[in-house]
Amino acid sequence: MFMEGLNLTGGYGGADILKGCSLGVEKGEIAVIVGPNGAGKSTAMKAMLGMLDIREGSVMLDGEDITKLSPQDRIAKGVAFVPQTANVFTGMSVEENLEMGAFLRTDDFSGTMNEIYDLFPILREKRNQMARELSGGQRQQVAVGRALMTQPSVLMLDEPTAGVSPIVMDELFDRILEIREKDVAVLMVEQNARQALNIADRGYVLVTGENRFTDTGEALLANPEVRASFLGG
Ligand SMILES: Nc1ncnc2c1ncn2[C@@H]1O[C@H](COP(=O)(O)OP(=O)(O)OP(=O)(O)O)[C@@H](O)[C@H]1O
Ligand SMILES: [Mg+2]
Repeated sequence: MFMEGLNLTGGYGGADILKGCSLGVEKGEIAVIVGPNGAGKSTAMKAMLGMLDIREGSVMLDGEDITKLSPQDRIAKGVAFVPQTANVFTGMSVEENLEMGAFLRTDDFSGTMNEIYDLFPILREKRNQMARELSGGQRQQVAVGRALMTQPSVLMLDEPTAGVSPIVMDELFDRILEIREKDVAVLMVEQNARQALNIADRGYVLVTGENRFTDTGEALLANPEVRASFLGG
């Protein structure tokens, strides 16, 4: 797979949170991680980015073992991450937030910024407004836009639709589908499991740091066990 975590095992110093968890995503594909609160979904993402000391297991990117690389080095290799919380600079304008996303770039990034404004037109309109003045959904667009400023090949999103209305969620998912069309590998954690699996090429159900179910989004949605336990029937 293009980016892959294999047998990820580790935690925050105490007991292991991830217990042999494996997940991955191909380019031009959306992979979704679902599971109950505390299952280790965010922790698995941190492990992929290199923010977690794993005791066992490995992370591969395009055939290269990147397990020992720092988060900065992974970002430089084309991995972008939008965390679950505090994912925008509220005291900066929309445009300044996007510029922050381009901090690693030494080339002209105005074209990329334009693409992001095409993807999220409301951000073009509000480019000079402070991020703190935006709605929750608009802030999430800023966060995703900022991550895209590095022109990543892998985009990791931790609950991009948290706290937004169903309509805004649908719109965000439509934009994520557009990002997939650009051959980006999208790996996301979602609390809105049913809707997320609906657009997922690949889905992972994590429970207590382990893979419980792995299949296509479609197959997971059709699986009676998955439906009963994780999708509310
Ligand atoms: N920084 C941390 N230090 C110590 N323990 C942590 C830390 N972050 C998370 N944990 C623990 O790791 C476990 C998994 O947490 P994680 O945030 O990965 O779950 P999650 O599946 O993302 O949950 P949610 O759906 O609520 O976001 C939990 O038991 C949590 O208490
Ligand atoms: Mg989480």
